Amino acid sequence: MSSSDKKQIKVGILGATGTVGQRFIQILSTHPYFKIHALGASSRSAGQEYGKVTKWKLNTPIPEEIKTKVVQECKPTAEGFAECGVVFSGLDHDVAGDIEEAFRQSNLIIFSNAKNYRRDPLCPLIVPLVNPSHLSIIEHQKKTLGLEKGFIVTNANCSTTGLVVPLAALEKSFGQLETVMVTTLQAISGSGYPGVPSLDILDNVVPFISGEEEKIEWETNKILGGLNEEKTEFDLHLNEKKKLKSINVSATTTRVPVIDGHTASVSVKFRNINNIKKPTIEEIKKSFKEFKCEAQDLNVPSAPKHAIVLHDLPDRPQPRLDRDLHNGACVSVGRVRPCPVFDVKFICLVDNVRLGAATSSIMNAEIAVEKGLIV
Ligand SMILES: NC(=O)c1ccc[n+]([C@@H]2O[C@H](COP(=O)([O-])OP(=O)(O)OC[C@H]3O[C@@H](n4cnc5c(N)ncnc54)[C@H](OP(=O)(O)O)[C@@H]3O)[C@@H](O)[C@H]2O)c1
Repeated sequence: MSSSDKKQIKVGILGATGTVGQRFIQILSTHPYFKIHALGASSRSAGQEYGKVTKWKLNTPIPEEIKTKVVQECKPTAEGFAECGVVFSGLDHDVAGDIEEAFRQSNLIIFSNAKNYRRDPLCPLIVPLVNPSHLSIIEHQKKTLGLEKGFIVTNANCSTTGLVVPLAALEKSFGQLETVMVTTLQAISGSGYPGVPSLDILDNVVPFISGEEEKIEWETNKILGGLNEEKTEFDLHLNEKKKLKSINVSATTTRVPVIDGHTASVSVKFRNINNIKKPTIEEIKKSFKEFKCEAQDLNVPSAPKHAIVLHDLPDRPQPRLDRDLHNGACVSVGRVRPCPVFDVKFICLVDNVRLGAATSSIMNAEIAVEKGLIV
């Protein structure tokens, strides 16, 4: 679909007042495919004008047409949602499960940021720069649940998103990986507003984020894995012949006093298949630099020109300097060097609220439009 040849699809935003919800509004307010139609949040906000109840934290103003829009309760029967062709969700996980299911049962299409359905065997877990092919399980999801139209697509945990893009580039060029060790330095916006108290995070590093390590370790294999031939089952990174095993992933996650942008230090070991010579550092850098993905081939509006920006300077990437590259829709990679324990190590950086959340959901929906899954 080109921006000129079809009318815009009406969209709803659940959790519209939150950190991710605000990015949805900022990006969608000028989107060529989508037009914001309904906003949902908790009963604390419902019934009031968006501009009055939202603690807006972005450095562009609230779009004029959104300021006076009345926030609804997150119910599929609330005003506006029934007409939406897509509903984006930035809901907290403690409420997302039931609410998103109610929307799906009402034959609405949900693109969710919450963790609730990421492990569901019927729901694709999609990082748009890596595995949009997983959208092909949607027919099976609808058929299994007896739904004509409704389905749920999830995107990944924000740190997982930054990690799997360079890992996908390595696998594409050099075959399956064996082991990945990752230590993250995660921004405070990753836990929503108001997030970690200032007295805990300023002048400090907090070496624990509840549930985060498990998400990175599990989600990586679903994203980098495939689907069976019938498009009914994920293989959690077993190849078609079921010969190769999942990647061993070990994650340590920390919270640091950065506002936006999750950095990760990554070490990777290639799988030693038939004693094939391992790639050189120059070959690895080339694979990052030249990595191309389906979102770019489809030329969807949110696809970055470069999925991976490879930095040559020895002190990059840095969150403050690099998180805005390509509107926060790419992953920055730098310090690519030999690892004395594994094979290669590098630093990667992702904007946790854009590619790590809202931009991924939106790009997934753009791809679904291009694939004819949303009409
Ligand atoms: N922040 C990130 O970097 C990031 C990255 C990836 C994924 N995520 C995921 O995205 C989701 C949202 O995160 P966030 O950081 O945006 O959180 P947040 O800033 O705390 O916002 C939460 C949103 O959920 C709404 N909400 C809370 N309780 C509700 C209820 N009972 N019924 C309906 N709505 C309710 C809030 O509305 P009120 O304003 O009315 O309370 C608010 O709009 C979470 O699942 C999170 O794990 C976040």
